[in-house]
Amino acid sequence: MKKTSYFIVLIGMLTLCSAYISDRLDNKTWHEASKMGDFYHDLYSFLPTDSLTDSIVNLYQGPVSDWPKPNIDSGIVYQELGAMPGNKEYLKWDNDDTVKLGKILFFDPRLSRSSQISCSSCHEPDMAWQDGRTIALGNDHLQGNRNTPSLLNVIIQKELFWDGRAGSLESQATAPLAEHHEMDMDVKSLPAKLMKIAGYDSLFTNAYGNSDITLSKITYALASFEKTLRSKKSRFDFFVEGNKKALKPEEIKGLHLFRTKARCMNCHNGPYFTDLQYHNIGLSYYGRKFQDLGRYLVTGKKEDVGKFKTPTLRDLLHTRPWMHNGLFDNLTGVINIYNSGMHQLDNKVSPAVDSLYPHTDPILRPLQLTADEKEALVAFLEALNPVEYKMRRPELPGMGHE
Ligand code: HEC
Ligand code: HEC
Repeated sequence: MKKTSYFIVLIGMLTLCSAYISDRLDNKTWHEASKMGDFYHDLYSFLPTDSLTDSIVNLYQGPVSDWPKPNIDSGIVYQELGAMPGNKEYLKWDNDDTVKLGKILFFDPRLSRSSQISCSSCHEPDMAWQDGRTIALGNDHLQGNRNTPSLLNVIIQKELFWDGRAGSLESQATAPLAEHHEMDMDVKSLPAKLMKIAGYDSLFTNAYGNSDITLSKITYALASFEKTLRSKKSRFDFFVEGNKKALKPEEIKGLHLFRTKARCMNCHNGPYFTDLQYHNIGLSYYGRKFQDLGRYLVTGKKEDVGKFKTPTLRDLLHTRPWMHNGLFDNLTGVINIYNSGMHQLDNKVSPAVDSLYPHTDPILRPLQLTADEKEALVAFLEALNPVEYKMRRPELPGMGHE
């Protein structure tokens, strides 16, 4: 009997308690309820929640002017990311006589001393106009010391090469022609060599009005052709232009991180994802085998040791391996090293001890990206890849198969 009455009392108390709690919840004020919401929001903000992603996605699906402010250090002049202007430059491949000549010269191995290496040996059309190698391989299988850059969008470059040592495409071209480890040509004798090839006279006449061949006509035609090499539009471009479905939510989150927490936009900005400036991101191998002092070799200024030109990030998947020395072949690896703050040599080494000691750019610092955030960044970078143009190699004059 005793046990039964205890039991009944216990049930009664539990009923009363639950009635009280449910009453409290029903009468909860809006203020209290929203505080609970805040509580859950704070709790979930440690996790990549769907609702957080949703609000970011909504913002980015609006006009670019409504995007959140990017995380840019004070004093840095930047351009918002954006779609590339459309272009019909490829029409010139068949319709512009100078471009047509430049295209043939670009693919012609007889521009090299051995008649075996053309510009296209290293700037290969099927590989987004680079060679897929860590370091370029040229005349006599000699290696250079740098990675071959893609020539896509080269028209936007104000200074050429990783260290900016050439001021124009026209002046740049004599370097690979003449370099012993590239095409090894005696450029003074190149016009005479081409004059002996049947078919070039009419190509030069169409382009320049007479059949004289000079080095400057050769480099001008090469540059005219190179200026027509442009990226196709990527899903990112279609997104910015208004197709809100062109990027998936994860890629949009990556775009947001690129502009904010991951700080990439401090250097990779504008429609081509480059500030066209020089930065030391810590890959100079200073004092070690494979040391490359970069921009310093051009300016002789101590502060330029280890600086390289910020590359565009368009067509990234087609331009691997990356960096001036081809060190990286994996985007997660690139994000991981940026996430660590990059290799910072001891920034306290006094100039009195070593005046050339390089200093990694202070824009770079540890980023504390989560695994999900790194994946989102990679997904975004991958969305910058369009389908590539296919270009067939032109038929060359005097080869007997025109
Ligand atoms: C042996 C491989 C090789 C050959 C052949 C070659 N290049 Fe290059 N090219 C490179 C490498 C490597 C670089 C980067 C060198 C550097 O930055 O110091 C480069 C850089 C360039 C750049 C600068 C791109 C930029 O964004 O700064 C242009 C333009 C260029 N080459 C055009 C040409 C032309 C035109 C020819 C033919 C006359 C040619 N190249 C032949 C390997 C080659
Ligand atoms: C301080 C300026 C700066 C910041 C910030 C920066 N980069 Fe770079 N980035 C560079 C420079 C300079 C290079 C070339 C360095 C070299 O070759 O030594 C480069 C190279 C790259 C490359 C290789 C591209 C190629 O074609 O070789 C990738 C990919 C890249 N950055 C992605 C990122 C991402 C993602 C972020 C943000 C997490 C970022 N960068 C932040 C300046 C910067």
